[in-house]
Amino acid sequence: MSLPEIRVMTHGDIDFVMRLQELVGWGNTRADAERSLYYEPGGCFIASQNGVDLGIVNSYFYGDVGFIGNLIVSAETRGGGIGAALMKHAIARLTSEGAGTIRLDGVQKAIPLYERLGFKGEYWSLRYNGVAAKAPHHSIEPMVREDLEKVAALDRHFFGLDRAQKLRRVQHDFPELCFKASKGGVLHGFIMAKPGLSNVRVGPWICDPKHSDYAEPLLNALSSKVDGRKLWIGIPELNKASVKIVEAKRFMLMPSSLRMCYGACKKVEDTSGTFGVGAPEKG
Ligand SMILES: CC(C)(COP(=O)(O)OP(=O)(O)OC[C@H]1O[C@@H](n2cnc3c(N)ncnc32)[C@H](O)[C@@H]1OP(=O)(O)O)[C@@H](O)C(=O)NCCC(=O)NCCS
Repeated sequence: MSLPEIRVMTHGDIDFVMRLQELVGWGNTRADAERSLYYEPGGCFIASQNGVDLGIVNSYFYGDVGFIGNLIVSAETRGGGIGAALMKHAIARLTSEGAGTIRLDGVQKAIPLYERLGFKGEYWSLRYNGVAAKAPHHSIEPMVREDLEKVAALDRHFFGLDRAQKLRRVQHDFPELCFKASKGGVLHGFIMAKPGLSNVRVGPWICDPKHSDYAEPLLNALSSKVDGRKLWIGIPELNKASVKIVEAKRFMLMPSSLRMCYGACKKVEDTSGTFGVGAPEKG
């Protein structure tokens, strides 16, 4: 098969993006696709051949570290190298803009593809599903816009990169799904979530491990808000405290993804404070 043409995605491509999203059933919404274009107007790509659109990939730039996600190729053209071509394009975009390290969360079937491209496994990024239920959360308050500076600083401490733009947008779009834990004006943790097609996707869920007593009430506050809905959470396997919380709530472990890195593999994250990943495609 000849190499595909790859172009920058625009708002006019969202119908195609949604067709591919329906195919994989990750629950991503049209609003998710619009937000990706808002975050990375030049970093989301479409592959096509002879004028027919066949695949997508998104790349996210955080300075010297990048993320890649949402790699999907239409079912009938898989196995012909379009996925690899999209990945190479996303890698080239990120490295040419200065990312010496690139990370992704790879589903198990795609790991050989990523390994061929030079990615190496770092840790399992566990996937849990559960049903939200009312639970105690006395110390937790709704997050407001004025909290965002402190939220972004705490997030940067554990995620290791600046994702203030994304945190602001999620709080703006879904204020009812964002909560904070603070004492004496000091922020110790926060949780955010986004509504998916059939679930509520938790993350980021960040809590200072020195104040880990707040982690569960943060999840409880969100859970109480969306009582009865299905919850999705991605948890770094290294954060045993988070695993313990969701397993005690009888969340189900789903097929997990492998957090992989490419290039210098600069370590920036402190997973002891990462109770829930922000989103599989952007860390
Ligand atoms: C992953 C995907 C984009 C690859 O596209 P492609 O055009 O077939 O990619 P290539 O031809 O360049 O590479 C084929 C590789 O894809 C991977 N792959 C094959 N089937 C797959 C599947 N159902 N899901 C995920 N990856 C798969 C394998 O690693 C395969 O390599 P192998 O034959 O050595 O095992 C495509 O399979 C897909 O859209 N899968 C569903 C969505 C998905 O899982 N995306 C990855 C999320 S991390």
